[in-house]
Amino acid sequence: MPILTIVGALWGDEGKGKVTDAVNEEADIIVKTNGGSNAGTTYVVGDKKVVLHLLPAGVLRNKRSLLAQGIVMRPEQLCKELEEFNWDVNLGIDPRLHITLPYHLALDYAREKAADIKAKGNNRTEGGAIGTTLSGIGPSYEQQKSRAGIRFCDLCGDENKLKQKVKANYEYVQGIIKQLGLEMVMPDRKIIDGKYVIEDAPLSLEHCEQLAVESGKKLKRYMADVAYEVLTAYKDGKKIVFQGAQGTLLDIGFGNYPKVTSSEVRAPAAYTAVGIPALPMKSVGIVKAYPTKVGSGPVVTCLDCQKWPVDESVSDPVAKLIRERGQERGATTGRPRRVGWPDMVILKYSQNLNGFTDLALTRFDLLSGINPIKVCTAYEVDGKVTDKYHAWDLDALTRTKPLYVEIPGFGDITGIRNYEELPEGAKKFVELMEKSTGVPVSIISVGPERSQTIFRGFKPFE
Ligand code: IMP
Repeated sequence: MPILTIVGALWGDEGKGKVTDAVNEEADIIVKTNGGSNAGTTYVVGDKKVVLHLLPAGVLRNKRSLLAQGIVMRPEQLCKELEEFNWDVNLGIDPRLHITLPYHLALDYAREKAADIKAKGNNRTEGGAIGTTLSGIGPSYEQQKSRAGIRFCDLCGDENKLKQKVKANYEYVQGIIKQLGLEMVMPDRKIIDGKYVIEDAPLSLEHCEQLAVESGKKLKRYMADVAYEVLTAYKDGKKIVFQGAQGTLLDIGFGNYPKVTSSEVRAPAAYTAVGIPALPMKSVGIVKAYPTKVGSGPVVTCLDCQKWPVDESVSDPVAKLIRERGQERGATTGRPRRVGWPDMVILKYSQNLNGFTDLALTRFDLLSGINPIKVCTAYEVDGKVTDKYHAWDLDALTRTKPLYVEIPGFGDITGIRNYEELPEGAKKFVELMEKSTGVPVSIISVGPERSQTIFRGFKPFE
């Protein structure tokens, strides 16, 4: 099977970068399928950490790297990343993908502000701010659906027509923000003294027009019919990786709506995002040993008292320990992530939606020294026990109690390369995951380095 899809099984930030990079060694083409500059994937190359928001992982190994129709692309972000590579990458951008311009960020920011004001800081599961990455993702997909958006082919096309579209969209957004009683400003995200701070930054129509025109000229050379190229490559027997962004529980349709992102995240959605028929595909679900979530919305096994933003004064010591060890902060925003005990109920739900052929367990080493490890295998909702996950019912999820089994803790596993050598507790954890999902855990990451990985008969393209 020459197509392998990599998908976050939970709420994103599962460590897709390491697995993607490992399979890329064998791949010919790497295609990013969904999301935009909200994703930040961290790769460890030698002793260097590289964070890419838009460029596919393939650029790190000089492979053909494609951005599919399902992406929303922020041109200044892409140009910034390309500059790091001296523009010398084998990149192709689908003409149909939609562009994110500064006014999309302004609208995202204004809506979040307005929701916060309405909720008066109360972290409710419905209503209240989503806690978006303020990358303009929702407004970009929204304009695609309303057929008012600007596509990559428009960005690279006639300058006057492009300016007219930018002006119309700018004014449209201005009108909405005015109705919200707010100013049209951009979010300027900063980390000051270790704290995540957002400041208002000015925005003008001239800036948006200039940005669109100039970036179109710079990026035009990368235009490629990604759908056609991928299908042709498949027919030629090339090995193709679909690199998904975010995680299944953030899927616009099947995640914890409305506390979700605005793209389709699941493995089968990659077919439509790229624009190919449902060809045979292997899919790897990336599962972090413990779930984390940035943004609001219920996390049943939360060890941070459901508080969003995180308030460490009420967090369980296990959450603090894992957050500190794992530097669990958003790669895009720097915000601390909420941490929970491992949850097999959400993993099963994710498996049902994705049909994973393999699971990759990541950051397993971060559980070392925690004894016992609690693993949620069922929920109690209003006095009834269930192993079903009702992602759509945020109120019920807020009332849900996790039911745990306890697994003996284990010590340092960072030096282990062979599954048989893992301590009993660690093996029990893996077995429980396999039993809950019916899917083999064929990749286990025990440290950040490329070499710190246990492969259990994993054959990405067979
Ligand atoms: P948006 O995608 O910026 O609109 O944010 C919507 C929700 O998805 C928020 O809860 C974000 O924190 C979350 N989100 C978006 N991208 C990522 C990601 O790459 N990792 C984890 N969470 C994300």
